[in-house]
Amino acid sequence: MAAAVMMTGGGHSGQGQNRKQTGELLKHKYLRCFECFTKPLRAAKVVRCRLNFVVTFRSGFGPFKVAHKSLVNLPTIDEVIGNTPLVRLRHLDRGLRWPVWVKCEHLNPGGSVKDRLALAILNEAEQQGHIKPGDTLIEATAGNTGMGLALVGLSRGYQVVCVLPEKMSVDKREALKMLGARVVIAPNAPLDSPDNFRNMAARLAEENGWFLTQQFSHPANPRIHYHTTGPEIWRQSQGQLAALVAGSGTGGSLSGAGRYLKQQNPDILVVLADPLGSQLASYVRSGEYSGDGPYLVEGIGSSRAPDNLDVQLIDQVESVSDEESFQVSRDLIRKEGLWVGGSSGTAVAAALRCASRPETGGPVVALVTDSWDRYFSREWLRS
Ligand SMILES: Cc1ncc(COP(=O)(O)O)c(C=O)c1O
Repeated sequence: MAAAVMMTGGGHSGQGQNRKQTGELLKHKYLRCFECFTKPLRAAKVVRCRLNFVVTFRSGFGPFKVAHKSLVNLPTIDEVIGNTPLVRLRHLDRGLRWPVWVKCEHLNPGGSVKDRLALAILNEAEQQGHIKPGDTLIEATAGNTGMGLALVGLSRGYQVVCVLPEKMSVDKREALKMLGARVVIAPNAPLDSPDNFRNMAARLAEENGWFLTQQFSHPANPRIHYHTTGPEIWRQSQGQLAALVAGSGTGGSLSGAGRYLKQQNPDILVVLADPLGSQLASYVRSGEYSGDGPYLVEGIGSSRAPDNLDVQLIDQVESVSDEESFQVSRDLIRKEGLWVGGSSGTAVAAALRCASRPETGGPVVALVTDSWDRYFSREWLRS
């Protein structure tokens, strides 16, 4: 400060002196700064040496670099599965009676809600001694569970075989192969046919002694959503939601999260978003299977209710056409910045309907379940 005053206030005769003093001051400041910078480094080094950590000095990259066995306890990628954001929409629910909030399951590390169950089933099977690294896991999958298993399983030393129905996108097949999984394609056959992808996976498991992860009936599937997805939604929404809307592939996410949320508040509506052509809607409404037809949305709907779908929990069903699902998916991608796949459009289309009805009674949460990158080859995304 004194130097600054002298610099600005001094005449010509004092300039040499001033420069010298300013130089001294800068040197002093620089040394103090350097001291501040190196002190924690030196302290850290001492602590690490005392703790017997490896301290390596390398030349050629700055004065030295400390390559350390970290004191920071970072997670591995499978440890950051879950805890996805709950976000509000900016545009699509404008003018509706209630807001729609979206649980971003597509932001899981493997790009879908299925990471949760892949991790849960694998951990449980390991803990119970059913599998060990080197074994082969096999699953009947629309693609996403296969990616979850690949994410968690391959890095732990398992082989992964995925049986996909023919109708699933080429992108999913290619991605699975690139990840290192083996892909078997089953014809688009009904559940009572031996060629159906689920029956084919069970047969291959039996014949080869592979571990069938059984997402359609394994209790760890709804359980993980009961213990993670449900509580996350409850916490993130501060208990203010009036309805939960999701599609059903295995039924695990809707049943697990729905059960948890209803236990917190029995008035919360559990709403099934079902593709037009799936028979789940009629089964939930009347106990009868009808309305069978082709549909293009992948990963949800069925001709029979899977074991993991708790039909008793469901209060309402919304049937959504392919056209509407894909239109809403494109809107989510282009207007909301939510880079999701087709079944997310089904869930949000159904959620928007719920949000337009006053009797719903509050905000509506929709599960968006997978990422757009597995549909690049699909016409609905390109159009
Ligand atoms: C794309 C997609 N969306 C939604 C779901 C539904 O998830 P869940 O199996 O929990 O019913 C699935 C499941 O197969 C899926 O693949």
